[in-house]
Amino acid sequence: MSRPIILGIVGDSAAGKTTLTKGIAQILGTDNVTLICTDDYHRYDRQQRAEIGITALHPDCNHLDIMQQHLSLLRTGQPILKPVYSHKTGTFEPPQYIKPNKFVIIEGLLGYSTRAARECYDVRVYLAPPEDLRAKWKVKRDTQKRGYTPEQVLAELEKREPDSEQFIRPQRQWSDIVVSFYPPCDDHDEANGHLNVRLVLRPTIPHPDFTPIIKLTNDDSGSAIRLGLDRDMGKPVDVLEVDGHATLEQVNKLEHILCSDMPYLTNVCDRESNPELGKVAGTTGETLQSYPLALTQLIITYHMLKATQIYQ
Ligand code: G6P
Repeated sequence: MSRPIILGIVGDSAAGKTTLTKGIAQILGTDNVTLICTDDYHRYDRQQRAEIGITALHPDCNHLDIMQQHLSLLRTGQPILKPVYSHKTGTFEPPQYIKPNKFVIIEGLLGYSTRAARECYDVRVYLAPPEDLRAKWKVKRDTQKRGYTPEQVLAELEKREPDSEQFIRPQRQWSDIVVSFYPPCDDHDEANGHLNVRLVLRPTIPHPDFTPIIKLTNDDSGSAIRLGLDRDMGKPVDVLEVDGHATLEQVNKLEHILCSDMPYLTNVCDRESNPELGKVAGTTGETLQSYPLALTQLIITYHMLKATQIYQ
C-alpha cells in the first residue's frame, strides 16, 4: 500500500523555508502536496510568550509530542486535526482537518529535534544561510508581513540567539541535505537574485551520480558548478556548489544528470512551461530566475520522487 512521502525543511526563523517549500510544491503539483508549518504547534501565543519570557525557538514553547504524533499519522496516510497559529495576530485559530496528499512538506523550526520526529521523514533538508543574510531576510519579512519595526526585529534576533545556538542549529546534523544560499564575495547585494548555493550532500540518502561534474570542475577550476569533498559536523560529505552567474548551458549539464535518472524532471526543467522554477523576488519585488535556487528545488524533488520508488 502506498503512503505519503514526507519532506522536512528545517531552519531558523527567516532562513528561506517558505520560499523553498513553495517552489518544490509547484514542481510536484500543488494538488499533490500537503504543506504543514510546525509553527502551528507553538504552545503559547505571542502575549503569553512575552509574559513567560520564552522564545518560540525553545522546545518547551512547542507541543513537540503532538507534532511528533501528527507526523507519524501523516506518514501512514492518516488525517490529523492540526492546530493553527496566526502570524498575523500572534494567536491561535480553530484547528484544521488535514488529510495528507501524495507528498507532505513539513517546514519549521524544530522538526528534527526528537528521534521519533526525525524518523518520520523520507528526505530531511536543513537551511543554513550565513547569519547576516538571515538577519536581513528576517528584517525584510517581519517588517513587511508581520507588522514589526526593524529595531524590534533586530532586538528579537539578539534575544533568540541563545536558543538558536542551543536548539535550532544542532539539527543540521540530522539532515540529508544542508542548503546554504550566500552572496558571492564580490557582491553584497543579497537581493539581486544571483546568490550562490552550497549544498552539503550526506550519504544518508542515495544522491544522483554527480561525478561528471567533477570532470567539469577539473577541466576548468573556475567553473560555476563545483563538486568536492568536505566534512560537516565531523562527518564526510559531498559538496555541490552552484554560482549565481552559472550559464544555462552549465546548468543544463547538471539537469541532464537529474533527468536521465528521473524522467519526470525533464518536463519540469522546460523553463517555458515552468516559469516558477527558481523564481525569486528581486529587490524591488520584480521576479527573477535563480539557477542555484532552481537546481536546489530540482535536487530535492529528485529525492522525493526517488523515495516514491523506494518506499511505495
Ligand atoms: C519566528 C519564526 C516563526 C514563529 C515566530 C513566533 O519568527 O520564524 O515561524 O512562529 O517566531 O513569533 P511571533 O513573531 O509570531 O510572535
